[in-house]
Amino acid sequence: MTMEMLNHLIFAFLCLAALAVLVQSQSQSGFISIDCGLSETSWYTDKRTGINYTSDATFTDAGVSYNISREFNGDAALEQRFLNVRSFPEGKRNCYTLKPARGNIKFLIRASFMYANYDDQGNLPSFYLFLGAQLWDSVDFKDASTIVTKEIIHMPQTNYVYVCLVNTSSGTPFMSSLELRPLLNSTYPTQSGSLLLYLRLDVGSTTNETIRYNDDVYDRVWSPYNRPEWTPISTSLSVDTTGNQVQAPSAVMKTAVIPANGSNSLTLNWETSDNTSQYYVYLYFAELQLDQVNNQTRQQYIYTNGKLWYDGPFLPNYLAAATLYSTTPVTELQFSINKTEESPLPPILNALEIYKVKEFTQLLTNQQDGDAIMNIKTNYGVKRSSWQGDPCAPKVLLWQGLNCSYDDYNAARIISLNLTGNKLKGSVPIGLIERRDSGFLTLRFAYSPKFLIHIL
Ligand SMILES: *[C@@H]1O[C@H](CO)[C@@H](O)[C@H](O)[C@H]1NC(C)=O
Ligand SMILES: *[C@@H]1O[C@H](CO)[C@@H](O)[C@H](O)[C@H]1NC(C)=O
Ligand SMILES: *[C@@H]1O[C@H](CO)[C@@H](O)[C@H](O)[C@H]1NC(C)=O
Ligand SMILES: *[C@@H]1O[C@H](CO)[C@@H](O)[C@H](O)[C@H]1NC(C)=O
Ligand SMILES: *[C@@H]1O[C@H](CO)[C@@H](O)[C@H](O)[C@H]1NC(C)=O
Ligand SMILES: *[C@@H]1O[C@H](CO)[C@@H](O)[C@H](O)[C@H]1NC(C)=O
Ligand SMILES: *[C@@H]1O[C@H](CO)[C@@H](O)[C@H](O)[C@H]1NC(C)=O
Ligand SMILES: *[C@@H]1O[C@H](CO)[C@@H](O)[C@H](O)[C@H]1NC(C)=O
Ligand SMILES: *[C@@H]1O[C@H](CO)[C@@H](O)[C@H](O)[C@H]1NC(C)=O
Ligand SMILES: *[C@@H]1O[C@H](CO)[C@@H](O)[C@H](O)[C@H]1NC(C)=O
Ligand SMILES: *[C@@H]1O[C@H](CO)[C@@H](O)[C@H](O)[C@H]1NC(C)=O
Repeated sequence: MTMEMLNHLIFAFLCLAALAVLVQSQSQSGFISIDCGLSETSWYTDKRTGINYTSDATFTDAGVSYNISREFNGDAALEQRFLNVRSFPEGKRNCYTLKPARGNIKFLIRASFMYANYDDQGNLPSFYLFLGAQLWDSVDFKDASTIVTKEIIHMPQTNYVYVCLVNTSSGTPFMSSLELRPLLNSTYPTQSGSLLLYLRLDVGSTTNETIRYNDDVYDRVWSPYNRPEWTPISTSLSVDTTGNQVQAPSAVMKTAVIPANGSNSLTLNWETSDNTSQYYVYLYFAELQLDQVNNQTRQQYIYTNGKLWYDGPFLPNYLAAATLYSTTPVTELQFSINKTEESPLPPILNALEIYKVKEFTQLLTNQQDGDAIMNIKTNYGVKRSSWQGDPCAPKVLLWQGLNCSYDDYNAARIISLNLTGNKLKGSVPIGLIERRDSGFLTLRFAYSPKFLIHIL
């Protein structure tokens, strides 16, 4: 790794304790926690996490609720949000429209799926998950009881976040749960693109359980992880995590691994899907053992592909968390943590995260045109199966009756709307009507250019 690259490495160590405290006190504020298929107006507080899950009725106007098959709902460990699903037998694309609270611009978005034979068909479906107007990932199942989770860190282009399921003619799309969590803008920076979760590991965990809210204020889900060649170590004391913003929670930092053979290093290797994929890696460290004889700190070098990734020996602080990450993406996932010659103790690792870069380049509909058409949809109760998600984008899933103009650099604009044959409920606010011709109404919206609406 070049010096230049090293300069891009950030040792996030500055004291931002005040910010961290602020996040802590806003627990669950800005969270959107949806249990898909839960009966309308219902909500509950999840027993384990204390998170309030609500029905999805106000987030989508399509689909059918189902309970999962009885053979799958007896497992006491199964979270309540998996007991029912919403299934979308009609329409090519069906969407959830999330409207995050103002003031946040970066979010963790997590969609979860468990088939559990809810439709008694015994056929595992496969479909696409879209974010905005673009493919996020495909959803495939290995069996009926496996939970599939897709998670992304994303800054939406508009005030709405559309999470859509697209029918690929391989079964009916469905969803079990959808969660949105606001993040600080300064966390998880990228040069460009959003971040698909690849791995998030609570290394050296002493339990067999995931850690999430409310240990983790962002509700990231940390999975226990160990390897035979590693020895877990832990402390009962808590680890100070206020030192940086991308902090892992104390519960995660309290456990770590060292090599089983103290003279070895910790090596981390993951296959990459291809040599063009880009990744961001976050390594989390805190010293958990005091070397009382020598009163010396552990010292380690971190290499990637044999080259130094972090410039100079890194010394974890006793019971204080630090995060090492690069602000430029890597293309290979090969890391090695070696102790220095002077280090009295072997290398340590407390947690790690790996994200894969995903670019969302598809432009959405102009925000004001989108707001206007949303108003028409809700005020006049327009029910059309294609009226889901972004109105103009992608072009192939354009709302029926709509015409849009596209260019390469700007959001799509709505040119006209044809509502012929649609029995409109409600009435057009008189102030909006600019011109009446036989069969046509030209409406004027506060912000948008004129739409031509055909209603007869
Ligand atoms: C969950 O919902 C209940 C009822 O609305 C409310 O009293 C409680 O404060 C909520 N909990 C959180 C953490 O928002
Ligand atoms: C699903 O189960 C719940 C609780 O057991 C029940 O109240 C509800 O009626 C069921 N819904 C359907 C669609 O069967
Ligand atoms: C969705 O897929 C199912 C199963 O492949 C198919 O029967 C159905 O016609 C599709 N619906 C739409 C609207 O494409
Ligand atoms: C968010 O962070 C990016 C760079 O990290 C910065 O360019 C942008 O201005 C920030 N936005 C807000 C609203 O703070
Ligand atoms: C941890 O949980 C997994 C899946 O539930 C199980 O297969 C495994 O045996 C458990 N391990 C321990 C140490 O309890
Ligand atoms: C530990 O590793 C060193 C160097 O790889 C090796 O020489 C030594 O035999 C190993 N010790 C044990 C107990 O495996
Ligand atoms: C660090 O450890 C790895 C794995 O044991 C080893 O291959 C590598 O040579 C070591 N690097 C240095 C500079 O000692
Ligand atoms: C990436 O992989 C392709 C095909 O496997 C190969 O032709 C190409 O040389 C590789 N590029 C780099 C930079 O390694
Ligand atoms: C250990 O070293 C630190 C500074 O490196 C020093 O402040 C502290 O007093 C030492 N503790 C003991 C028990 O020697
Ligand atoms: C959409 O608008 C363009 C440009 O005005 C026009 O050429 C096209 O025929 C329109 N398409 C439909 C389906 O109305
Ligand atoms: C509006 O849509 C209807 C039905 O889809 C179609 O018959 C009619 O030609 C359309 N009108 C215009 C002006 O595009």
